[in-house]
Amino acid sequence: MFSKKTIKSLEKSSWIRAMFEEGNKLRQLHGADNIFDFSLGNPDVEPPKAVKDALFEISKSNEKGMHKYMSNGGYESTRKAVADMISKEYAMDISLSNICMVTGAAAGINVTLKSLLNDNEEVIIFKPFFAEYLFYITHANGIPVIVDTIEDTFTIDLDKFTKAITKNTKAIIINSPNNPTGVVYSESDLIQMATIVKEKEREFGTNIFIVSDEPYTKIVFGNVKVPVMMKIFKKTISVNSYSKSLSLPGERIGYITVSPLIPNNQLLMSAILFNNRTLGFVNAPAIQQRIIEKCINEKIDPIIYEERRDLLYNHLISLGFTCQKPDGAFYLFMKSPEENEVNFVKQAQKFNILLVPGRGFGQPGYVRLSYCISKDIIKRSLPSFTKLAELYK
Ligand SMILES: Cc1ncc(COP(=O)(O)O)c(C=O)c1O
Repeated sequence: MFSKKTIKSLEKSSWIRAMFEEGNKLRQLHGADNIFDFSLGNPDVEPPKAVKDALFEISKSNEKGMHKYMSNGGYESTRKAVADMISKEYAMDISLSNICMVTGAAAGINVTLKSLLNDNEEVIIFKPFFAEYLFYITHANGIPVIVDTIEDTFTIDLDKFTKAITKNTKAIIINSPNNPTGVVYSESDLIQMATIVKEKEREFGTNIFIVSDEPYTKIVFGNVKVPVMMKIFKKTISVNSYSKSLSLPGERIGYITVSPLIPNNQLLMSAILFNNRTLGFVNAPAIQQRIIEKCINEKIDPIIYEERRDLLYNHLISLGFTCQKPDGAFYLFMKSPEENEVNFVKQAQKFNILLVPGRGFGQPGYVRLSYCISKDIIKRSLPSFTKLAELYK
């Protein structure tokens, strides 16, 4: 009776939702303070004070027309502020005509894929992956092609990547820092990927685009630097978001940048503006755009997440668990001590620890921990992890 495609997707997307419901059940049973919920990637860190101040100031304004429709790409002044900021950051010349403000990275990726893909063209994603990619790709009538990464380090397997590119490949989604692993891809791996892409384009006479999904680029630890994708891949569309860098996921604000190096990039921009409109986003929220313009150089302090990472990672390693140390984002992807990680997740629940099975990200045998909970709760969770580890001694 209803859309078969959607009903099938509901079945595939059930893991995080299932954990969310499980969490609510446990919270009711034991009280919210006694549940160690590592399942949700929903930042608990408050936005910077400047964001709240800007919102307060805007709310007092008597300027007329503040709540009207606008160009589908957003306010010119906001796009210019974003363009100037990234021109400086990337050391490239990016103009406002290459920026489209969007309602978060989720909308940005949907709009971008819809603007790139013809029916049944392939989009490469790397395993483990942000589960929503599968649906974004199929919404745009594309075909997801899932490529394994190197075991345990989750870095790109260049051989497998090379083999996965066909004459039907239209785009590659790269997400660094990565959800769910926290891995930041090295410049040398990315440069090698760019060479492979160029060779394949030549071999097949095709154009292959990089969709760089960048919500976590401002959350990196220590001296780690995130390479600028547009400098490495000529045909890059980067999709950015303030959900994590300003802790504003409920406000739905981000932007797409189309590289000026893409031939005919203004036609692609027109397609992006058209799809932003006709997919029903129309334009990014007006007030949020004004806030971004006022807070263009603000970000949350990544040290908050770095301290949590250290606390959690060091304890898990000391207990004998295996995981790659994350360089960014706020996730840790840990090997399950038993092959079926769903059983491990159930064991963890006995100690009020909520984790997400790796199969929710296409990678069974692992679990994801999201450290969007306070250092204090993480500290209190450590004895529970110790008890959990004892089950596997
Ligand atoms: C890798 C990745 N891409 C995109 C998104 C969507 O983010 P936004 O809130 O900006 O739509 C998320 C959200 O968690 C994510 O982890």
